[in-house]
This record gives sequence, C-alpha cells and structure tokens, in this order.
Amino acid sequence: MDIFFAPMEGMTPPLLRTLHNEFFGGCDKYFTPFISTNENYSLNQKEKKEIDHECNKDLNLVPQIISNSAEQSAGYIFDISEKYGYKEININMGCPSGTVVSKNKGSGMLKDKRFLKEYMDELFSLLYEQDKKAVPDISIKTRIGFYSEDEHKEITDIFLAHPVKQVIVHPRSRVRMYEGQTNLDAFSYMYDALKGAGIGVVYNGDINTPEDFEGIAERYPDLDAVMIGRGLLRDPSLARRIKGGKCIDNEEYLSYMEALLDGYMEQIGVEKFVLAKMKDTWSFSYRPFSGNDKGRRDMNKADSVESYRVCMRQFIRNSKLF
Ligand SMILES: Cc1cc2nc3c(=O)[nH]c(=O)nc-3n(C[C@H](O)[C@H](O)[C@H](O)COP(=O)(O)O)c2cc1C
Repeated sequence: MDIFFAPMEGMTPPLLRTLHNEFFGGCDKYFTPFISTNENYSLNQKEKKEIDHECNKDLNLVPQIISNSAEQSAGYIFDISEKYGYKEININMGCPSGTVVSKNKGSGMLKDKRFLKEYMDELFSLLYEQDKKAVPDISIKTRIGFYSEDEHKEITDIFLAHPVKQVIVHPRSRVRMYEGQTNLDAFSYMYDALKGAGIGVVYNGDINTPEDFEGIAERYPDLDAVMIGRGLLRDPSLARRIKGGKCIDNEEYLSYMEALLDGYMEQIGVEKFVLAKMKDTWSFSYRPFSGNDKGRRDMNKADSVESYRVCMRQFIRNSKLF
C-alpha cells in the first residue's frame, strides 16, 4: 500500500517536499497545495514553482487544482499536463475554508449535488471530446458531505458515473472541518462502491502513528494508498517507519529543521518572513516534543534567523522526543 504526502497550503511548499523526500523518503507521491483556476488561464510565479520540475527534484508529484468551472478546469488540466508532462491531475473537493467555500470551490462543490453533477458531466465531456489530446488521469480529493455525512452516497453516485482514476476520501463533512472522529461507516460505503467499479480509493485523516496506519490497512486491505498530512509534519519519519525504517531522533529532526531554515533563508531572504515560515511549520511540529516549555518560548521570541537557530538547537536537543 502506498503512502502519499498530503497537500497543505502554506505548509508543504517545494522546499519542504524535496527536503522531506531527501531526508526521510517513504512517500510514494507528493501533491501540490491547490492551484486556483482563473478566467485568464494563467499561473502566477508561486504556482509555477509549485509544479516546476527544477523546484521539485526527484519527487513523484501530482499538481492539484481547485475550481468551480468545468471549462477552466479542463483548460488547466490540458495546459499543466501538456506543458509540464504530468500524467495525473488532482481536483480539490475538500477544502473547508470559508473564502474557498463561498465561491463554491473545494468542499463548496459538494453543497449542491446538481452543481457537482453538472461540473463533472461538463468536465469529462470537455476532456474527452477532443480525442486528439491525451487526457491525464483525474483523481479527486473529497470530503463525504458538505452539511452532513449522510451525503456520501449521493456524492459517490456522481463519481461513479465518470472515468475518475482515484478518489482520496477525507471522511468528514465540511461542517466538521477537522474535528471529531472520521466517519468509517461512510468511508466503508465509498470504499466498497468505488473499488467495486474499478476506481482506486485512498484514505486520508488522522494517521499520526504506525498503529493508526495498521488499523486502516487491516480494515481496508485493498486501498491504493493512505494519505498523511499533519502526521508527517509532526513526525517526518512516519512514512519511513510505516515501511519498516527507523524512527527520527533529535539530531535528525534538528538537521531537517536547519535545512529548512537555510532553504527558506536562501529562497525568501527577508528574516522576518523566514521566521514566520518557520513558526508556521513548527505550529504543527511541537506535539512530539515535551519537557522544554522554556526552550519553546525562547524559540518563539527569537527575532533574527541566527538567534532562532540557536534557540531551535537548544529546544530540540533538550526536549524529549515522543
Ligand atoms: C494548513 C492546512 C492546509 C491544507 N491545504 C490543503 C490543500 O491545499 N489541498 C488539499 O487538498 N488539502 C489541504 N489540506 C487538507 C490536508 O491535505 C488533509 O486532508 C488534512 O490535513 C487531513 O489529513 P491529516 O489528518 O493526515 O492531516 C490542508 C490542511 C491543513 C491543516
């Protein structure tokens, strides 16, 4: 069973993905955070870097788009796959953020099932109407409903009617954001229905330890993959451990974080923005560390890259990890 590194806007830029792959490995695919389509069919500099092969060396990378327009989606899918040679494009139907949802993008696509069906019908007819063009594999990253988790059957029926290659399911509704237990009953239904129709299924949600992975893999042995997000920010060695490799230790954690700090300094250059990036990353990474609250406070107070580096060394070396 494969392991995918989840896309996380702001958290998993090319630098973090490539360093993660270099230091730890264990992930079979990485996904870009969403690229929002627009009527000019243009990519900004940041979006170009997200998919540029030079910035994503040695990664098996899947670009992700987010849209509310089948026409724009088809345009981006053809453009990105033709110009950059990607064989798979992922469509985001899961993002719960208010600004995204208000435009009927991300999980906002799941709100009105008639809209979702029309989008899917139009998208796949646009993709396949010109048989001179090669169509990349289309995968979808979805939730199991917008208002309620009971919507999963209707959503599954819409996916089943189209040549979707793989569906990555985060088994929560939009209204639950990332709260509460994932709904495995709804996931089981989607797993059986989609697999039964030859569509690949990936589980995503709350895999933070090798034991969490084992529980899912035992219950769903025919999954294509599990996708892990926050668990890999907390424990960057999680995928490696799941595959039988060693657990990260304090020195390895420090080398990785220093490489990230140096990389951001090289790419961004402005100290206060570099510190902001590091603080964002750390906001998901503190959890496995304990016993050094003062070290953590010092790190958060550091106001230059060099003092941050000193505090980070002190924090990591003098904390208990796991
Ligand atoms: C800060 C943040 C940013 C995210 N950005 C994206 C995104 O760009 N595209 C996407 O499909 N999911 C995004 N997600 C959702 C994650 O990919 C994933 O589905 C979620 O974190 C649940 O998986 P986990 O429990 O393994 O973290 C984001 C999540 C977080 C916390």
